[in-house]
Amino acid sequence: MLSFLSLGLLALPAAHATGSHFTARDASTDSANSTVDMVAAAWYTGWHSEDFTLNNVSWDKYTHLIYSFATTLPTANVSLNGSDAELLPQFVYTAQGNDVKAMVSIGGWGGSTAFSENMATQDNITNFVEAIVGFADQYGLDGIDFDWEYPGKQGIGCNAVSENDTANYLAFLQAFRARAAPNFIVTASVPVTPWVGANGSSLSNVSDFAAVLDWVNVMNYDVHGSWDTTVGPNAPLNDTCANATAAVGSAVSAVAAWTAAGMPAHQIVLGVAGYGHSYFVDPVAALATDGALNAYPAFNASEQPLGDAWDNATNTDVCGVVTGPSGVFDLWGLIDAGFLNANGSAADGIHYIVDGCSQTPYVYNETSQVMVSFDDAPSFGAKGSFIADNNVRGFAMWEAGSDYEDILLDAIRSAAGFPDESSEC
Ligand SMILES: *[C@@H]1O[C@H](CO)[C@@H](O)[C@H](O)[C@H]1NC(C)=O
Ligand SMILES: *[C@@H]1O[C@H](CO)[C@@H](O)[C@H](O)[C@H]1NC(C)=O
Ligand SMILES: *[C@@H]1O[C@H](CO)[C@@H](O)[C@H](O)[C@H]1NC(C)=O
Ligand SMILES: *[C@@H]1O[C@H](CO)[C@@H](O)[C@H](O)[C@H]1NC(C)=O
Ligand SMILES: *[C@@H]1O[C@H](CO)[C@@H](O)[C@H](O)[C@H]1NC(C)=O
Ligand SMILES: *[C@@H]1O[C@H](CO)[C@@H](O)[C@H](O)[C@H]1NC(C)=O
Ligand SMILES: *[C@@H]1O[C@H](CO)[C@@H](O)[C@H](O)[C@H]1NC(C)=O
Ligand SMILES: *[C@@H]1O[C@H](CO)[C@@H](O)[C@H](O)[C@H]1NC(C)=O
Ligand SMILES: *[C@@H]1O[C@H](CO)[C@@H](O)[C@H](O)[C@H]1NC(C)=O
Ligand SMILES: *[C@@H]1O[C@H](CO)[C@@H](O)[C@H](O)[C@H]1NC(C)=O
Ligand SMILES: *[C@@H]1O[C@H](CO)[C@@H](O)[C@H](O)[C@H]1NC(C)=O
Ligand SMILES: *[C@@H]1O[C@H](CO)[C@@H](O)[C@H](O)[C@H]1NC(C)=O
Repeated sequence: MLSFLSLGLLALPAAHATGSHFTARDASTDSANSTVDMVAAAWYTGWHSEDFTLNNVSWDKYTHLIYSFATTLPTANVSLNGSDAELLPQFVYTAQGNDVKAMVSIGGWGGSTAFSENMATQDNITNFVEAIVGFADQYGLDGIDFDWEYPGKQGIGCNAVSENDTANYLAFLQAFRARAAPNFIVTASVPVTPWVGANGSSLSNVSDFAAVLDWVNVMNYDVHGSWDTTVGPNAPLNDTCANATAAVGSAVSAVAAWTAAGMPAHQIVLGVAGYGHSYFVDPVAALATDGALNAYPAFNASEQPLGDAWDNATNTDVCGVVTGPSGVFDLWGLIDAGFLNANGSAADGIHYIVDGCSQTPYVYNETSQVMVSFDDAPSFGAKGSFIADNNVRGFAMWEAGSDYEDILLDAIRSAAGFPDESSEC
């Protein structure tokens, strides 16, 4: 495995030798020496490449960038259709020229339709492994992130699903790990609790996965959204302090669940969100009697606010289903829409609270009745501290282009203990 030193991102070797922050320790062992390189990653989406170009990426602040998405084809292959295939060679060249590892994520919410079939038999596993190895060779990738949403569970609505998905996934990953070059990075983006087995329950032992994956990216976002019955935090830091209805996932409980199942903390990267979800909320529900915002108010489920310029009034998904807007606001979108000032603070005339348990900020425009739970510099700072305090491997942000002038990226890097990039050589 590569260290910060070989990545060339480190300011001072002395800081590396003494600082606990630039390496993560496996808390499950007693050895203070079992340290690994930390990860500062983000997904780069091919379909936003015209707005957020390769030149817009702060390459010097990342260790890994993950091009998204290659989608699964039912022919045991992958496709970059819709993700600007022409840009991928330039992405790889630019990343590697900046000493950043160039990865591609396979799957995603819309791209997981054929994982199940492609892993259903030993022949299909072999063919799928060969296709992905060929794909990685063709583009000179440093690694692949598998983002199957989700084995053993229906995701978008038209995925193939089998009770044996998770077992087959392990067989696939073992075959892929055995076939790929030893230093090739293999990761998986995973839900806040371990995947389900054939009995429909979360696996209680994922150590065989830990043996073949470099790490997992825990997708601690979309925990609450307008598919729920009340507003709630998009990406809670904590939910063990929330009431039972609200306690459906957080960084704290996800790391606890994955480590309890045998994924060492130093093989967990915390997925963090540069965006929030919006809801129409009546002022009577939104505002408590003291004028503060409620964190879990009822909302108008029959209408969804349009999000920022990356949202559409109607969207057609890969299953052919037409839906309304997603209501997603990226950090820059909240600034564009007048919720936030350019420095990320709440604008005048906008209600703002931080939900204490989840450490999540909310903004509310009483006139438009739009409420958004999102992430800002303080909440990213809290997540960075959580990473440092729990020997978590680092962070991966969905998505690189959601930030505004690195407000979020700088906050989490600093709190997690990454060296100040301005002093890097
Ligand atoms: C940790 O590293 C130090 C210095 O290299 C060495 O002396 C010590 O034996 C190591 N401890 C363990 C538990 O590996
Ligand atoms: C990307 O960079 C261009 C040129 O510097 C700049 O005009 C634009 O605002 C940047 N876009 C984003 C999303 O940061
Ligand atoms: C790419 O995707 C679009 C829409 O999802 C589809 O209509 C088109 O046929 C696809 N093209 C290829 C070459 O797969
Ligand atoms: C195996 O893959 C082939 C195409 O590559 C597909 O037609 C077949 O359905 C797959 N097998 C299973 C059991 O899903
Ligand atoms: C996968 O698709 C690519 C691009 O269409 C093609 O070049 C390659 O031969 C396919 N691989 C396999 C194993 O079918
Ligand atoms: C799942 O695997 C078991 C054991 O290999 C097998 O008996 C069963 O038929 C498989 N189920 C499906 C849906 O493929
Ligand atoms: C379900 O099966 C998995 C193994 O696939 C096991 O880890 C877990 O404990 C089982 N859960 C229950 C409730 O039986
Ligand atoms: C988890 O699985 C691994 C590999 O199969 C095994 O060695 C280990 O004993 C299991 N751990 C527990 C707690 O069952
Ligand atoms: C999460 O909440 C629990 C219960 O209130 C508390 O003990 C713990 O310190 C919190 N953790 C973080 C990281 O906020
Ligand atoms: C938990 O929170 C939900 C959402 O705000 C609320 O509807 C419910 O009444 C709360 N339950 C308890 C026991 O406080
Ligand atoms: C949104 O609309 C734009 C422009 O009409 C289109 O290019 C894009 O594919 C749409 N996005 C989705 C998710 O449908
Ligand atoms: C709140 O929403 C109203 C109606 O859309 C808009 O005119 C106003 O500018 C917004 N307020 C702020 C502070 O952005």
